[in-house]
Amino acid sequence: MKIFLEYVSWVTVVGMLVWCTGGAKVSAQTQISPAGPALQVLVTYHSLSGNTEQMAKGVREGAQSVEGTRVLLKTVGQVTAKDLFGSDAVVVGSPVYWSNMSGEVKTFFDRWQFEFGVFPEFKMRNKVGAAFATGGQVSSGKEVTMLTILAAMLGNQMIVVSDGGAFGASATTEGESPGINDQERADARALGKRVAEVAWMVKRGQQP
Ligand SMILES: Cc1cc2nc3c(=O)[nH]c(=O)nc-3n(C[C@H](O)[C@H](O)[C@H](O)COP(=O)(O)O)c2cc1C
Repeated sequence: MKIFLEYVSWVTVVGMLVWCTGGAKVSAQTQISPAGPALQVLVTYHSLSGNTEQMAKGVREGAQSVEGTRVLLKTVGQVTAKDLFGSDAVVVGSPVYWSNMSGEVKTFFDRWQFEFGVFPEFKMRNKVGAAFATGGQVSSGKEVTMLTILAAMLGNQMIVVSDGGAFGASATTEGESPGINDQERADARALGKRVAEVAWMVKRGQQP
Protein backbone atom coordinates (compact mmCIF):
# COMPACT_ATOMS: atom_id res chain seq x y z
CA MET A 1 0.00 0.00 0.00
CA LYS A 2 2.85 2.37 0.98
CA ILE A 3 4.67 1.56 -2.28
CA PHE A 4 1.44 2.18 -4.22
CA LEU A 5 0.93 5.60 -2.54
CA GLU A 6 4.56 6.57 -3.23
CA TYR A 7 4.05 5.57 -6.89
CA VAL A 8 0.83 7.66 -7.14
CA SER A 9 2.48 10.77 -5.64
CA TRP A 10 5.52 10.36 -7.94
CA VAL A 11 3.21 10.15 -10.98
CA THR A 12 1.35 13.23 -9.71
CA VAL A 13 4.59 15.23 -9.33
CA VAL A 14 5.79 14.23 -12.83
CA GLY A 15 2.33 15.07 -14.20
CA MET A 16 2.42 18.48 -12.54
CA LEU A 17 5.89 19.15 -13.98
CA VAL A 18 4.79 18.19 -17.50
CA TRP A 19 1.69 20.34 -17.13
CA CYS A 20 3.68 23.30 -15.85
CA THR A 21 6.32 22.99 -18.58
CA GLY A 22 3.57 22.74 -21.21
CA GLY A 23 1.91 25.79 -19.72
CA ALA A 24 5.19 27.71 -19.79
CA LYS A 25 5.68 26.78 -23.45
CA VAL A 26 2.22 28.07 -24.34
CA SER A 27 2.75 31.38 -22.60
CA ALA A 28 6.23 31.81 -24.18
CA GLN A 29 4.73 31.13 -27.61
CA THR A 30 1.98 33.65 -26.93
CA GLN A 31 4.55 36.30 -26.09
CA ILE A 32 6.73 35.84 -29.16
CA SER A 33 4.00 35.33 -31.74
CA PRO A 34 3.37 38.46 -33.85
CA ALA A 35 0.29 40.47 -32.90
CA GLY A 36 -1.05 40.35 -36.46
CA PRO A 37 -0.11 41.21 -40.03
CA ALA A 38 2.69 43.74 -40.62
CA LEU A 39 1.86 47.31 -41.52
CA GLN A 40 3.37 48.79 -44.70
CA VAL A 41 4.16 52.49 -45.05
CA LEU A 42 5.19 53.86 -48.45
CA VAL A 43 7.48 56.91 -48.19
CA THR A 44 7.89 58.47 -51.61
CA TYR A 45 9.50 61.69 -52.77
CA HIS A 46 11.09 63.72 -55.54
CA SER A 47 14.54 65.20 -54.93
CA LEU A 48 17.17 66.67 -57.25
CA SER A 49 19.77 67.93 -54.79
CA GLY A 50 19.09 65.51 -51.92
CA ASN A 51 17.28 67.66 -49.33
CA THR A 52 13.86 66.07 -49.72
CA GLU A 53 15.49 62.65 -49.85
CA GLN A 54 17.09 63.29 -46.45
CA MET A 55 13.70 64.23 -45.00
CA ALA A 56 12.25 61.04 -46.55
CA LYS A 57 14.88 59.00 -44.72
CA GLY A 58 13.89 60.71 -41.46
CA VAL A 59 10.23 59.83 -42.09
CA ARG A 60 11.29 56.22 -42.75
CA GLU A 61 13.20 56.10 -39.45
CA GLY A 62 10.19 57.38 -37.52
CA ALA A 63 7.79 54.90 -39.12
CA GLN A 64 10.21 52.02 -38.55
CA SER A 65 10.40 52.89 -34.86
CA VAL A 66 6.81 51.65 -34.50
CA GLU A 67 6.89 47.88 -33.93
CA GLY A 68 5.76 45.68 -36.79
CA THR A 69 6.01 48.45 -39.40
CA ARG A 70 7.69 47.82 -42.76
CA VAL A 71 8.69 50.86 -44.85
CA LEU A 72 9.09 51.13 -48.61
CA LEU A 73 11.26 54.13 -49.61
CA LYS A 74 11.01 55.07 -53.29
CA THR A 75 11.14 58.07 -55.59
CA VAL A 76 7.74 58.98 -57.03
CA GLY A 77 8.78 57.69 -60.46
CA GLN A 78 9.58 54.23 -59.05
CA VAL A 79 6.23 53.61 -57.36
CA THR A 80 4.13 50.77 -58.84
CA ALA A 81 0.43 49.97 -58.41
CA LYS A 82 1.45 47.11 -56.08
CA ASP A 83 3.44 49.52 -53.87
CA LEU A 84 0.55 51.95 -53.68
CA PHE A 85 -2.32 49.54 -53.09
CA GLY A 86 -0.22 47.23 -50.89
CA SER A 87 0.53 50.04 -48.42
CA ASP A 88 -1.57 51.01 -45.41
CA ALA A 89 -0.16 54.55 -45.44
CA VAL A 90 1.49 56.80 -48.01
CA VAL A 91 3.75 59.75 -47.14
CA VAL A 92 4.64 62.05 -50.03
CA GLY A 93 7.48 64.58 -50.05
CA SER A 94 8.26 67.35 -52.53
CA PRO A 95 10.70 70.20 -53.00
CA VAL A 96 8.93 73.54 -53.37
CA TYR A 97 8.93 74.58 -57.03
CA TRP A 98 7.39 78.00 -57.64
CA SER A 99 5.50 77.91 -54.33
CA ASN A 100 3.92 74.51 -55.01
CA MET A 101 4.73 70.81 -55.35
CA SER A 102 7.15 69.92 -58.15
CA GLY A 103 5.86 68.74 -61.51
CA GLU A 104 7.15 65.20 -60.80
CA VAL A 105 5.05 64.93 -57.65
CA LYS A 106 1.95 66.29 -59.42
CA THR A 107 2.53 63.77 -62.22
CA PHE A 108 2.74 61.04 -59.57
CA PHE A 109 -0.75 61.94 -58.32
CA ASP A 110 -2.06 62.05 -61.91
CA ARG A 111 -0.65 58.52 -62.46
CA TRP A 112 -2.92 57.32 -59.63
CA GLN A 113 -5.71 57.63 -62.16
CA PHE A 114 -4.05 57.31 -65.60
CA GLU A 115 -1.91 54.31 -64.64
CA PHE A 116 -3.40 52.85 -61.46
CA GLY A 117 -7.12 53.64 -61.98
CA VAL A 118 -8.07 54.71 -58.45
CA PHE A 119 -11.41 56.24 -59.50
CA PRO A 120 -14.41 55.60 -59.41
CA GLU A 121 -13.86 52.90 -56.72
CA PHE A 122 -11.75 55.22 -54.53
CA LYS A 123 -9.11 52.52 -54.13
CA MET A 124 -7.06 54.67 -51.73
CA ARG A 125 -10.02 55.24 -49.40
CA ASN A 126 -9.16 55.03 -45.67
CA LYS A 127 -5.43 54.68 -46.20
CA VAL A 128 -3.48 57.13 -44.04
CA GLY A 129 -1.69 59.97 -45.83
CA ALA A 130 0.79 62.70 -44.90
CA ALA A 131 3.12 65.24 -46.51
CA PHE A 132 6.58 66.73 -46.15
CA ALA A 133 8.41 69.43 -48.09
CA THR A 134 11.68 71.30 -48.43
CA GLY A 135 12.06 74.83 -49.78
CA GLY A 136 14.95 77.22 -50.17
CA GLN A 137 13.35 80.22 -48.45
CA VAL A 138 11.57 80.61 -45.11
CA SER A 139 8.18 81.67 -46.42
CA SER A 140 7.96 80.76 -50.08
CA GLY A 141 5.56 77.85 -50.45
CA LYS A 142 6.32 74.92 -48.11
CA GLU A 143 2.87 75.06 -46.50
CA VAL A 144 1.11 75.42 -49.86
CA THR A 145 3.13 72.45 -51.13
CA MET A 146 2.11 70.25 -48.17
CA LEU A 147 -1.52 71.41 -48.35
CA THR A 148 -1.79 70.61 -52.07
CA ILE A 149 -0.34 67.14 -51.41
CA LEU A 150 -2.90 66.66 -48.61
CA ALA A 151 -5.65 67.99 -50.92
CA ALA A 152 -4.86 65.30 -53.49
CA MET A 153 -5.07 62.70 -50.70
CA LEU A 154 -8.35 64.10 -49.38
CA GLY A 155 -9.77 63.95 -52.91
CA ASN A 156 -8.94 60.24 -52.77
CA GLN A 157 -10.84 59.87 -49.46
CA MET A 158 -7.67 59.14 -47.51
CA ILE A 159 -7.26 59.93 -43.80
CA VAL A 160 -4.65 62.69 -43.58
CA VAL A 161 -2.51 63.37 -40.53
CA SER A 162 0.34 65.71 -39.61
CA ASP A 163 3.22 65.99 -37.16
CA GLY A 164 6.47 67.90 -37.08
CA GLY A 165 4.47 70.98 -38.11
CA ALA A 166 0.82 71.90 -38.57
CA PHE A 167 0.60 70.41 -42.06
CA GLY A 168 3.53 67.98 -42.00
CA ALA A 169 7.31 68.10 -41.68
CA SER A 170 9.28 70.73 -43.57
CA ALA A 171 12.78 72.14 -43.91
CA THR A 172 14.27 75.43 -45.12
CA THR A 173 17.32 74.45 -47.10
CA GLU A 174 19.03 77.74 -48.02
CA GLY A 175 20.14 80.83 -46.07
CA GLU A 176 21.28 80.67 -42.42
CA SER A 177 20.83 76.90 -42.01
CA PRO A 178 21.55 75.24 -45.36
CA GLY A 179 20.49 71.63 -45.90
CA ILE A 180 18.57 69.66 -43.25
CA ASN A 181 19.30 70.47 -39.60
CA ASP A 182 18.70 68.28 -36.51
CA GLN A 183 15.32 69.83 -35.68
CA GLU A 184 14.05 69.33 -39.22
CA ARG A 185 15.23 65.72 -39.20
CA ALA A 186 13.48 65.21 -35.83
CA ASP A 187 10.28 66.69 -37.33
CA ALA A 188 10.51 64.20 -40.21
CA ARG A 189 10.92 61.33 -37.73
CA ALA A 190 7.93 62.56 -35.69
CA LEU A 191 5.79 62.58 -38.83
CA GLY A 192 6.80 59.02 -39.78
CA LYS A 193 6.08 57.77 -36.26
CA ARG A 194 2.63 59.41 -36.14
CA VAL A 195 1.69 58.04 -39.56
CA ALA A 196 2.58 54.49 -38.50
CA GLU A 197 0.75 54.86 -35.17
CA VAL A 198 -2.46 56.13 -36.79
CA ALA A 199 -2.24 53.55 -39.59
CA TRP A 200 -2.04 50.82 -36.94
CA MET A 201 -5.14 52.26 -35.23
CA VAL A 202 -7.05 52.16 -38.53
CA LYS A 203 -5.79 48.67 -39.40
CA ARG A 204 -6.62 47.20 -35.99
CA GLY A 205 -10.02 48.91 -36.05
CA GLN A 206 -10.84 47.22 -39.36
CA GLN A 207 -10.09 43.73 -38.07
CA PRO A 208 -13.13 41.59 -37.23
C1 LIG B 1 12.61 75.25 -60.37
C2 LIG B 1 12.78 75.56 -58.91
C3 LIG B 1 11.86 76.35 -58.27
C4 LIG B 1 11.99 76.62 -56.90
N1 LIG B 1 11.04 77.38 -56.29
C5 LIG B 1 11.12 77.60 -54.95
C6 LIG B 1 10.10 78.36 -54.29
O1 LIG B 1 9.14 78.83 -54.89
N2 LIG B 1 10.21 78.52 -52.96
C7 LIG B 1 11.25 78.01 -52.23
O2 LIG B 1 11.29 78.18 -51.01
N3 LIG B 1 12.25 77.30 -52.84
C8 LIG B 1 12.20 77.07 -54.18
N4 LIG B 1 13.16 76.32 -54.79
C9 LIG B 1 14.26 75.74 -53.98
C10 LIG B 1 14.00 74.28 -53.63
O3 LIG B 1 12.69 74.07 -53.18
C11 LIG B 1 14.94 73.79 -52.55
O4 LIG B 1 16.27 73.98 -52.93
C12 LIG B 1 14.69 72.33 -52.19
O5 LIG B 1 15.24 72.05 -50.92
C13 LIG B 1 15.27 71.38 -53.21
O6 LIG B 1 14.98 70.07 -52.84
P1 LIG B 1 15.88 68.82 -53.27
O7 LIG B 1 17.28 69.02 -52.71
O8 LIG B 1 15.22 67.66 -52.67
O9 LIG B 1 15.90 68.78 -54.77
C14 LIG B 1 13.07 76.07 -56.18
C15 LIG B 1 14.02 75.29 -56.83
C16 LIG B 1 13.87 75.03 -58.19
C17 LIG B 1 14.91 74.16 -58.87
